Amino acid sequence: QNNVTVLEIKADKESPIISKHIYGHFAEHLGRCIYDGIYVGEESKVPNTNGVRNDIILALKELKIPNLRWPGGCFADTYHWKDGIGPKENRPSMVNRWWGGVTEDNSFGTHDFLNLCEVLETEPYLAANVGSSTVQEFTEYIEYVSHKGGSPMAELRKENGRDKPWNVSFWGVGNEMWGCGGNMTPEYYANLYRQYATFMTDWTNSDKMFRIASGANVADYHWTEVLMRDIPKNLIEGVALHSYSFVTWDKKGSSTKFDEAQYFSTMQTALKMEELVTKHSDIMDKYDPKNTIALIVDEWGGWYDVEEGTNPGFLYQQNTMRDAMIAGTTLNIFNNHSARVKMANLAQTVNVLQAVILTEGEKMLLTPTYHVMKMYTAHHDAKLLPLTFESPSYTFNNESLPAISASASIDKNGLVHVSLVNIDSKKENKVEIDITKLDVKKFSGTILSASKLQDHNTFDNPNKIKPAIFKTFENKKGKLEITIPPFSVVMMEGK
Ligand code: AHR
Repeated sequence: QNNVTVLEIKADKESPIISKHIYGHFAEHLGRCIYDGIYVGEESKVPNTNGVRNDIILALKELKIPNLRWPGGCFADTYHWKDGIGPKENRPSMVNRWWGGVTEDNSFGTHDFLNLCEVLETEPYLAANVGSSTVQEFTEYIEYVSHKGGSPMAELRKENGRDKPWNVSFWGVGNEMWGCGGNMTPEYYANLYRQYATFMTDWTNSDKMFRIASGANVADYHWTEVLMRDIPKNLIEGVALHSYSFVTWDKKGSSTKFDEAQYFSTMQTALKMEELVTKHSDIMDKYDPKNTIALIVDEWGGWYDVEEGTNPGFLYQQNTMRDAMIAGTTLNIFNNHSARVKMANLAQTVNVLQAVILTEGEKMLLTPTYHVMKMYTAHHDAKLLPLTFESPSYTFNNESLPAISASASIDKNGLVHVSLVNIDSKKENKVEIDITKLDVKKFSGTILSASKLQDHNTFDNPNKIKPAIFKTFENKKGKLEITIPPFSVVMMEGK
């Protein structure tokens, strides 16, 4: 019998809105994310709209994805946007040097991407080339997508069939500039950033342009320190951070055939996100006490060995309950830090790393991570309800981790949501919430669970793991007692 964890909701405390942009996604020209994933081409026998799979459009719309980052990743700093506009048959090819050395024919370009964002009702996040580009190429890109008319680039866009500008606020100024973006020092990049940002004109005159500096790799606090110190505040709206979860970087192991030791190590790296966002935020607080610059975790998720027989450069992996644990805990961390974390992007949307969707020919499946993301839509743009509790431990081989992760919010209709994750591989855990101070009468719940941690959806059994109605809770005179099974995610709704 476990002790009960008392979880206190501080409904009276000042708290931020959980930006829906924390629930953003990322689609790179990598492996089968864009080609043979999202984009199959108009001639495909897979039902599509302008070459984009209809089933994917539907699934992403249901997920209410708030923003989509594109075209990379490492690919971004090799990408020359002018190669991806105009008649497809005239577009030049290039080699995708980072991801498998395959030929990129540029058949999915800026129009395809931005039109897709409109269909999905999602905001585009263009990660633009700095590493192998020029200020001119960069600024012409901005002019091309957002200038109304009468400028050379706006006229070129019109010739290519798009009259109105698109609505693009989020601009990434390079990607991983400490690595594939150019192996720069933070001092060098900060200067380069200043130069690029100076020429980034907001042609919409709406003060909406949101410039995001390429951020630190995991715990490289020096990187964040230098950017915050050296970039003037009027040139920057966001600083990025990348952090992946894995067993060890050198021995990632299979995405489905893992033991408890590998599970435990993966969760150690995933839960490190708490320390990472705390420490990067502390540095940002020092230089930006008024909190005008956001921390943008624009790459996160689990990273394992590729599925047997697939191209090692394509990063195609399966997605199990371990990934549901990563998603549930990471999103709780972001929610609880939403004062500073205003946006994040799960890597990646389809067929790459911790994907929400996998495809095989005409078949498509939704992964456990998709279902967690969908359950958590309840937190989009809701007001954070700060929580305090002391988690029981999940112990393995004399090491321990907090077993319970949680976050709570109240939306504009007064609905209260509490998302709870129990990462313990064997033990259920009981949580008790005092709900007397909340203006809610009735609770209901949804759960994502499975019989084995390694369980996953397959093309033959795509609905093995899906959310179900959650029943193991009781309202005992204003105390909500919830029993969370091992390795499961629960979303409680109070109204
Ligand atoms: O998401 C895969 C790769 O991981 C991205 O291209 C890069 O930015 C990161 O290293």
